[in-house]
Amino acid sequence: MATYHQIPDDEKGYELDLFCVPKHYEEDLDRVIIPHGLIMDRTERLARDIVRDMGGHHIVALCVLKGGYKFFSDLLDYIKALNQNCDKSVPLTVDFIRLKSYCNDQSTNSVKVIGGDELSTLTGKNVLIVEDIVETGRTMETLLSLLSECNPKMVKVVSLLVKRTPRSSGYRPDYMGFEVPDWFLVGYALDYNEYFRDLSHICILNEKAKVKYKL
Ligand code: IMP
Ligand code: MG
Repeated sequence: MATYHQIPDDEKGYELDLFCVPKHYEEDLDRVIIPHGLIMDRTERLARDIVRDMGGHHIVALCVLKGGYKFFSDLLDYIKALNQNCDKSVPLTVDFIRLKSYCNDQSTNSVKVIGGDELSTLTGKNVLIVEDIVETGRTMETLLSLLSECNPKMVKVVSLLVKRTPRSSGYRPDYMGFEVPDWFLVGYALDYNEYFRDLSHICILNEKAKVKYKL
């Protein structure tokens, strides 16, 4: 069972004024829920846990775009740092897949592969799927079933966030950073209709912003 930090439903987070947020988003955000520094510290530990379990094998890290790109990049930096500083090291290669399941702040029933590398290159490999957030679990279950057709040797999933929601299928990743309440979150590459990827902290969007950036 993966260990993680649970953010409770009554979490107040932090006032925006305590941290630096881009001027163009100041009016759109309610509170900071996970400051960037805390994301990085938790990611460093996830890197250590992953190398402990998967170390010794060549790992193909598969980034789920676009939301996963920040976490992917920072997680791989920490794995690289371990590789450079430990007796044991693990060769890393990278792959990318682009999936889409969201419109506005709603998960839709269809998960589409809209780009990326051929999954068939992952046959016989140890694959680490790197995702930003698991909500219903449909995206990850779809990807895992696509991947299983290609017979990888091993598949592990790391997600920075997992949402506590009645819409969950019950799917849980092998590694997770934080369990979060059933809120729509943005920042650190999590977006609302492509906005807020350029925000370092994970924040709650206010209702006005949901209308402002609605498709
Ligand atoms: P699922 O298929 O319902 O598990 O949704 C997973 C995908 O929906 C994630 O990879 C995200 O791209 C997106 N998503 C889910 N919740 C949020 C959120 O709170 N903010 C931004 N994107 C989200
Ligand atoms: Mg995602």
